Amino acid sequence: MKRKLFLGQSSLATLGVLVAPSILKAKKIVKPLNTNNIHISYAISTWNVPQATKIAGEALDNGANALDAAVKGVAFEESNILNTTVGRGGTPDRDGSVTLDACVMNHKGDCGSVLAVEDITHVASLAKEVMEKTPHVILAGEGARTFAISQGYLPENLLSDEGKKAWRKWLENGNYRPEINIENHDTIGMLCCDQEGLLSGVCTTSGLAYKMKGRVGDSPIIGSGLFIDNNIGGAVATGLGEEVIKTVGSFLIVELMRQGRTPQEACEEAVGRIVEKQNGKPDFQVAYLATNKKGDIGAFSIHKGFSFTKYKNKTNHNITSKAMF
Ligand code: GLY
Repeated sequence: MKRKLFLGQSSLATLGVLVAPSILKAKKIVKPLNTNNIHISYAISTWNVPQATKIAGEALDNGANALDAAVKGVAFEESNILNTTVGRGGTPDRDGSVTLDACVMNHKGDCGSVLAVEDITHVASLAKEVMEKTPHVILAGEGARTFAISQGYLPENLLSDEGKKAWRKWLENGNYRPEINIENHDTIGMLCCDQEGLLSGVCTTSGLAYKMKGRVGDSPIIGSGLFIDNNIGGAVATGLGEEVIKTVGSFLIVELMRQGRTPQEACEEAVGRIVEKQNGKPDFQVAYLATNKKGDIGAFSIHKGFSFTKYKNKTNHNITSKAMF
């Protein structure tokens, strides 16, 4: 049921408490209030990001649609200079440039994505603009930056003083090999269900720390970092993007749920598909977070240490994920 319609009926019902007999007799048009169609909204996100889920969850409580809420929620972390894995303050590539990736997907299966964007903080919002305002799904690099500026985004320096110091130290170590297993890559992937029971999701990241210039991971790749099928559920990924891409992880999870797996079983199977290709215990992290249409939630990671945050019924919890090792 549309929220406006629900609110209209609520007001009528409230009025009805006072004057119901005459109104009901006279017109017989007041339908009984059907609260069954009002869904309990919720927001879940990878990692411990209580502010982001609270912002998204409160927006949902106030009737926002799932995608607007998710974009609003992750924007908090994109602005948070202390979060070195997304947005402003993100860890740079090995040339010292912060390049951001993001994607969005809504309940209709519409999606938008931006890759390797410089100087723009709110890339999740930008990905939504690509979805809504261009004939394309993906814009990359300079084209994405130019599009952002045309839409009123202000270019800014994303490399923090701390980030610059850490990068210089990394350079001093003289290590130019892709150190894919030692840097953090705590992508923010958020899934929201709104009061109409519609699912949307967002994934945003600065990618692997000290990556090669031009490297793009799973986060902006629809099906890898994020996938939504409103009839089934949604999934997001965090961790080493190369491994997520090879198994199209988020799409795999949604397809496993379509076949009857719970979100937890689907996340465990998707992690298993990555690990089975390795020779023993992998020295990298990948984690998944998923939800289905019933509101069940699953999470699983290769290594201990992954958690997710859930806002529902005005309560925010950080929950430790199960892990393979
Ligand atoms: N999952 C983030 C990345 O690999 O870029």
